[in-house]
Amino acid sequence: MEFRIKSSAGLRGTISVPGDKSISHRAVMLGSLAEGETYIENFLTGADCLATMSCFRLLGVEFDGPNEKGDLVVHGNGPLALREPEQVLNAANSGTTMRLLLGILSGLPFFSVLTGDASLRSRPMSRVTVPLSLMGARIWGRHEGKLAPLAVQGGNCTGIKYSLPVASAQVKSAILLAGLLASGETEVTEPFQSRDHTERMLKLFGAELTVDGKAIRIRGKQKLKGQRVVVTGDISSAAFFLAAGASVPGSDLTIKDVGVNPTRCGILEVMEQMGADITVFNRREVSCEPVADIRVKYSKLKGATIGGELIPRLIDEVPVLAVLGTVAEGEILVKDAAELKVKESNRIAVLAGELRKLNAAVEELPDGLAIQGGRPLKAAVCESHGDHRIAMAMAIAGLLAQGQTIVKNTECVDVSFPGFFKTLCSLG
Ligand code: S3P
Repeated sequence: MEFRIKSSAGLRGTISVPGDKSISHRAVMLGSLAEGETYIENFLTGADCLATMSCFRLLGVEFDGPNEKGDLVVHGNGPLALREPEQVLNAANSGTTMRLLLGILSGLPFFSVLTGDASLRSRPMSRVTVPLSLMGARIWGRHEGKLAPLAVQGGNCTGIKYSLPVASAQVKSAILLAGLLASGETEVTEPFQSRDHTERMLKLFGAELTVDGKAIRIRGKQKLKGQRVVVTGDISSAAFFLAAGASVPGSDLTIKDVGVNPTRCGILEVMEQMGADITVFNRREVSCEPVADIRVKYSKLKGATIGGELIPRLIDEVPVLAVLGTVAEGEILVKDAAELKVKESNRIAVLAGELRKLNAAVEELPDGLAIQGGRPLKAAVCESHGDHRIAMAMAIAGLLAQGQTIVKNTECVDVSFPGFFKTLCSLG
């Protein structure tokens, strides 16, 4: 599949974006560990979250749905009802599935094998296997346990105190989930706060958890109870439309029901600093997560420096922020973001290469990118590199370039945003 995009005379209208990917994964996982039914609304039916469901099916969990509205029922029977899978668990392209599942499997008394697609099999896993091994799990994998396929013999874990070397919600969550199933208390501390959906949802499901600054503590062997979970719209998906609305002259668009958890809102803060005309309104809370509607209008943008504690709060939005940098006055400097090299693709190298094809002035840095704005973009043939966020970011760049841009191999968009192109077209 490929996208063909021409510059637009302005995007106008009201849209909603699919359910949050991080929250959808966690709703299936906690629903599977809980006792009783969990009713999920607005579940993301993207490939990543479907991979999580298929892993839990192999562990013995039954589901009804999801239907086209994203209603999904998880029939939870508690962790003791989960059984040793006869087949290999396949996390496909999803780092969240593999890392959080490793945490859960570490706490369960059986053997399992986990794999993923070529991209996931090249992503670092020792960041989770090291702390989980300290808790008592036995984990084997390629490259001395660093890469999938991985084999896990879980059970008999005990709580640990662990300081994360890098802020990562996936690693934090894997340890907390293993801690939930372990004996004793587990404490995780992170250098900067990463997304806190696991903490919020554990509380929603009835677990006790204390958050003391950047340290999170959980007592093991707590029981979870099935819940109703309404999944908010994914701000990481909304980000493509926020960027398009702010940068395509004549745009005025509203995105409804977007999750505005502060640990995910770095994109809004940076865009406001860049001079974007953004209004966040109708704020409310659903299933322990803040949600709002967001209106964005075209305005002139200026550069910004993005680093430090902001990075974990906008890490998935860097591709589209880099695109915004091409039209801003001045420079967008992204630093402290070496993590971008180990995402679904090496996003530093891939962004630099693809944006240069469109005539952008981009410098690749060891821990980020520098983009000089103001050089007119010219249409080109771009490549997704199998990375959903690169495919969508390049589509937005296509709206800003002169001529017709083609983005190749865009099937990967289904990972997080089925219907992305249709939503884009609906705005003219
Ligand atoms: C996620 C955490 C982030 C993010 C990923 C989803 C999660 O990864 O990039 O898309 O759901 O916990 P890291 O934990 O590796 O930073």
